[in-house]
Amino acid sequence: MALLTQKPQWENLKRLKEELPELKKLKNDLTLEHKGLYLDYSKNAISHQVIAELVALAKSCELEQWRDKMFTGEKINNTEDRAVLHTALRAPREAVVNFQGENVMLFIHNTLKRMNAASGALRVQENITDIVNIGIGGSDLGPYMVCEALKHYASGPQVHFVSNVDGAHINETLKGLNPKTTLFLIASKTFTTQETMTNAHTARAWFLKSMQESDIANHFMALSTNLDAVTDFGIARENMFPFKDWVGGRYSLWSSIGLSICMAIGFDKFEELLAGAHAMDMHFKTAPLDHNMPVLLGLLGVWYRNFWNAEAHAILPYAQNLHRFPAFLQQMDMESNGKTVTRYGKKTDYDTGPIIFGEAGTNGQHAFYQLIHQGSSMIPADFILVKKPYNGNHDHHKKLLANGLAQTDALMHGQTLSQANGDPHRVFNGNVPTNTIVLDELTPFNLGQLIALYEHKVFVQGTIWDLNSFDQPGVELGKTLANKILNDGPQTKLHKYVLED
Ligand code: F6P
Repeated sequence: MALLTQKPQWENLKRLKEELPELKKLKNDLTLEHKGLYLDYSKNAISHQVIAELVALAKSCELEQWRDKMFTGEKINNTEDRAVLHTALRAPREAVVNFQGENVMLFIHNTLKRMNAASGALRVQENITDIVNIGIGGSDLGPYMVCEALKHYASGPQVHFVSNVDGAHINETLKGLNPKTTLFLIASKTFTTQETMTNAHTARAWFLKSMQESDIANHFMALSTNLDAVTDFGIARENMFPFKDWVGGRYSLWSSIGLSICMAIGFDKFEELLAGAHAMDMHFKTAPLDHNMPVLLGLLGVWYRNFWNAEAHAILPYAQNLHRFPAFLQQMDMESNGKTVTRYGKKTDYDTGPIIFGEAGTNGQHAFYQLIHQGSSMIPADFILVKKPYNGNHDHHKKLLANGLAQTDALMHGQTLSQANGDPHRVFNGNVPTNTIVLDELTPFNLGQLIALYEHKVFVQGTIWDLNSFDQPGVELGKTLANKILNDGPQTKLHKYVLED
């Protein structure tokens, strides 16, 4: 296969960029709809020719073949020798997904059945008022984001999330809790992560100050792939909710890592979340590439990253309940595609994953939008709007939506010197590309679709950049050096200054 930058489509795209009129002069009318999710991608610096060429690039990178390999359980995570099957976690009961001679749907639905029973029992018992999920990275960001996003459905015990190894996080959380009425979910794929194990041991010590070892069975559950480590910790097999190594950490909220979600909003709502993600999986699998939402979002990202030098991409949800969505996508996107070595070990000669950042609207408007409007870099952005208010307040909601819509207009059209009455400080260049994604309602189904949309967008980009989007070797070096400092003591003057009394 030709190297990416030597493909004819790459050259064609470079040329098309030079020929394209300014974004604000374009009159695109480009929309796509999928089961309650509406994408307007008109405000992009593209033409039909650009889209066609990007699609041709995707085809020449064998996007469809790689997509099919993922869905059918080929070991596309080549550096870890693992399949990538998070899509099976949300497939319907009757689906058949074979991996190593076994239909994984049986295991998945057995686990879901246990999650249903455990969360159902807990939500009717009155003796558990608080749940503390202890996990980090994918074992925290996904379930935390979803519990926040759907908190208007929450009816069960209060769910807390502890992730940071900073003792302040667990100690502040435990302060208001009663061990008799608290359940801990220790969420860790590996069950070896330093932060999670430290917090889990602190939680257990706090618990045993007033409770007995025998009470652990009713107050600690493990969500993990590592049975030995779970039982070594003192959690019995029947209190472990397993998943498999073909679920990547940042793609794991659909697995037993989602137990906190079931406990917060109920298993039926969790199933709706899975159904939404599955609907997006089907769309990604079957829609033609030029009418395929994740493919289009992925290709637009490649267009701006590689042909317009856009280093960052903003995620701007105009919904307070989606306030953790940008942080969740930071891991999903940056841990997946923040790499410059291809699947088979060659250094890339092109840019890859952008910096992802964002904030819930309108808070971002009063923070960093100044730079998006008038700074020296072009930062494409996704605006995520929810049509129907989910907190019943129409006055607030109209203002929220008007702000989101106005921002995309302002970013595209800008303001000329004469419109600014000759004041250069008030000139806005415009030409900043945006996508507007509208959820008709913030339901579990639509949220499931939205998350899967971004998962597949990241996959599309990783495929074009020839990356393994499912490993994360870049997080290892820092961990090793931290352990060296812990084991061998301070190594430098700065270490000494910080660590010695
Ligand atoms: O940050 C590295 C990482 O391995 C993530 O990919 C993962 O989500 C996180 O650590 C937590 O890992 P675990 O679930 O094994 O504790």
